Amino acid sequence: MHSILAKAMETHTLSKNEIVFLLGNTLPFEEVCSVADIVRHQYVGDAVHLRGLIEFSNICKNNCCYCGLRRDNKNIERYRIEPEEIIQMATTAVQELGLKTIVLQSGEDMYFTTDKLCFIIQGIKKLGVALTLSIGEKTLEEYQAYRNAGADRFLLRIETTDKEVYARHDPGMSWEKRANCLTNLRKAGLEVGSGSLIGLPGQTVESLADDILFFKEIDADMLGYGPLIPHPDTPLKDVPKGDFELAIRVMAVTRLLLPDINIPATTAMETLCPDGQRIALQAGANVIMPNVTLTDYRKNYELYPGKSNTGYTPKKTYDELVKKIESIGRYVGTDSGFRVKRQAIGEDTTCRM
Ligand code: 5AD
Ligand code: SF4
Repeated sequence: MHSILAKAMETHTLSKNEIVFLLGNTLPFEEVCSVADIVRHQYVGDAVHLRGLIEFSNICKNNCCYCGLRRDNKNIERYRIEPEEIIQMATTAVQELGLKTIVLQSGEDMYFTTDKLCFIIQGIKKLGVALTLSIGEKTLEEYQAYRNAGADRFLLRIETTDKEVYARHDPGMSWEKRANCLTNLRKAGLEVGSGSLIGLPGQTVESLADDILFFKEIDADMLGYGPLIPHPDTPLKDVPKGDFELAIRVMAVTRLLLPDINIPATTAMETLCPDGQRIALQAGANVIMPNVTLTDYRKNYELYPGKSNTGYTPKKTYDELVKKIESIGRYVGTDSGFRVKRQAIGEDTTCRM
């Protein structure tokens, strides 16, 4: 094994130059993946945690240049699902599929006031599952209100730590404000999820190494990476798509440096490469977020084109995933899959449950 991989495996610490080396093409892709797979097995075991994703509104006040939900895109049919129906969808997902975590995701839709969101959170928490929110930038007080209502986790990708690249692609938004949201999520007592888009124009391997170091510094509990998939109704329609292998390498190195966190095999990986999620599961990932939004709504939650499984029912999506997971000798997690800070498996230092 290359000495940098051996060091990463033993110390879970690397310099920026060492990370850049692992993200480049010098070492074979398979070698980096298989070391991440070993570390994943040592720290979080063979369970794959399934988080049922409900995309409850595709209305967004922001205008991110890469995203099909951006406010200037007039070519999509906008929808929002009312609170009672969201709770009903979650109830069906939990009762029919046995999911242990529900993720509520939306654009930044101001219709969902704190009161409405807390009503939904309380309704879903009655099901006895963990609840993750992915609803954008809010104030500390709002994050605290969600936590008090029962929310457990929050996903907010930083997208890139290169502030210039961020400013170019997220007009009207502020990188510092977004980073501060991550601090506030931690203050509010929520598990903190973040991640990056891989393939933004101007992004470099050096800046991806910075992303990983940033996530280590904030001690993120979950990290998801998506290769950029250009959307025809956005300003990035003509840019090259993100590099699948690079996205997997970033994910694998993240597993080496933050060995006990939760890392999803993302839908964008599966969309870009037909076997993408299986490859990700064998390169450090231990989470999948099956879409449990009802089929009629799904087609309009088009962050990027060709999003996999948009025509599937929740049950069909779930069954296909279980087959995939079991075919590689893994199993569906039986608990909520909170991050457990570990030295190595069996040596818990803290536990939230
Ligand atoms: N390709 C891949 N991922 C995208 N996202 C938004 N647009 C795209 C795209 N074109 C991701 C962003 C956002 C998440 C919800 O979806 O990283 O944080
Ligand atoms: Fe809105 Fe999120 Fe899309 Fe940006 S990435 S336009 S915040 S839904």
